Amino acid sequence: MIVGLGKIGSLYAECYGQAGHRIGTVDIGNGADWDRVARVPDPSGIDAWVVATPTATHLSVVDEILRHQPDARILLEKPACYPDELDGLDRTVRRNPRARILVNDVYSHSEAVRRFATSVRQLGEFDPIRKITVEFTKNRELDIANGRFVDTRYGEAGYEGFHMLSILRSVLPADQYRTYLRTIPSSVTAEMRVRTSVAGLPDIELYTSSTGAIAYPGLAGFAFPEAVSRNYLTPAVIPYGSEFRYRFADVELRSGQHVTLVFEPFYGAEPDHKNIHAVHVRGTAPARHFLVAVNHFKEALLTQLNLLQHLGEGTSLVRPAEHRFLAALGSAMFTGTFPQTTENEKFARIGSET
Ligand SMILES: NC(=O)c1ccc[n+]([C@@H]2O[C@H](COP(=O)([O-])OP(=O)(O)OC[C@H]3O[C@@H](n4cnc5c(N)ncnc54)[C@H](O)[C@@H]3O)[C@@H](O)[C@H]2O)c1
Repeated sequence: MIVGLGKIGSLYAECYGQAGHRIGTVDIGNGADWDRVARVPDPSGIDAWVVATPTATHLSVVDEILRHQPDARILLEKPACYPDELDGLDRTVRRNPRARILVNDVYSHSEAVRRFATSVRQLGEFDPIRKITVEFTKNRELDIANGRFVDTRYGEAGYEGFHMLSILRSVLPADQYRTYLRTIPSSVTAEMRVRTSVAGLPDIELYTSSTGAIAYPGLAGFAFPEAVSRNYLTPAVIPYGSEFRYRFADVELRSGQHVTLVFEPFYGAEPDHKNIHAVHVRGTAPARHFLVAVNHFKEALLTQLNLLQHLGEGTSLVRPAEHRFLAALGSAMFTGTFPQTTENEKFARIGSET
């Protein structure tokens, strides 16, 4: 049952419909089978729910589903909820010990990310990681003018932050990743450049811009066609209305080698460019690269539905520490200071539940 049949909910409907699943839909607007969860006949018989309503409604929709089906299997869009509702979500999970809730995490189920992480792990065994840079840049000003990608709580961190953290989680050892989420970054700037430099972790930089300002054309620009270099990478700006997305993750090893995951490098040169990604290993002779052809949004939706079907009662994965980390970044961008004491105590308290 898909609750919220907007932009994202429609993608779920298409993906699960194509995979042969029987789908029902709930939306307060027109075009769905029912206008609210309470009107779904026999809700206790639903195999799995998707919640793709606006973030502000997630908690109340999840509560409503669980009132009708306490052991529901729910795939919840990200962010799971707004930062000040995380304790409420925690209470919901505790009050419903048989529920199974997964927060959609596309990049941790992406074959392209897996291929990248494998290369990093293999090389990193003998050649430690010196720096990790992840950039997700797109010009979203047209979307914003149309009311999409307007997050007043997580701010810029709410759009791509979860995806960038998923990629970081795939290459850092688990203990280092927990440390990262608890570490106050050295700096956080308005377009969202988050630099962290601390003993025990490689240097880490996450960068995202929704005004199209490219930060690191040199780190992944080599992978794109000449026209992309000329139009976007050399000027280092993606213009208003352009669909081009500059997204990569680069791991620099101590020897100077780079392992770089580049999303959609065939933009403008290949009709199916959205579903082709590349992992490049450079600085070795000869340089190597792998192509991964996959629609990772669909791949992740199918994998997570399957995961949800096999999760034992009371297993939920909502990643509160990541939500708190990104909320703190959002707050740093709004106020100019990273929340020090209370948030950090929280980080320490919940550090094990990334
Ligand atoms: N995973 C990703 O990469 C990704 C990308 C964009 C958005 N999102 C998330 O997906 C969610 C939905 O975003 P969207 O862009 O599809 O929004 P949208 O506005 O296009 O769609 C939301 C739909 O929910 C319906 N709705 C609102 N309240 C409802 C309720 N109480 N019950 C039933 N239906 C209700 C609306 O009528 C609308 O059709 C958000 O949480 C957003 O953060 C995730």
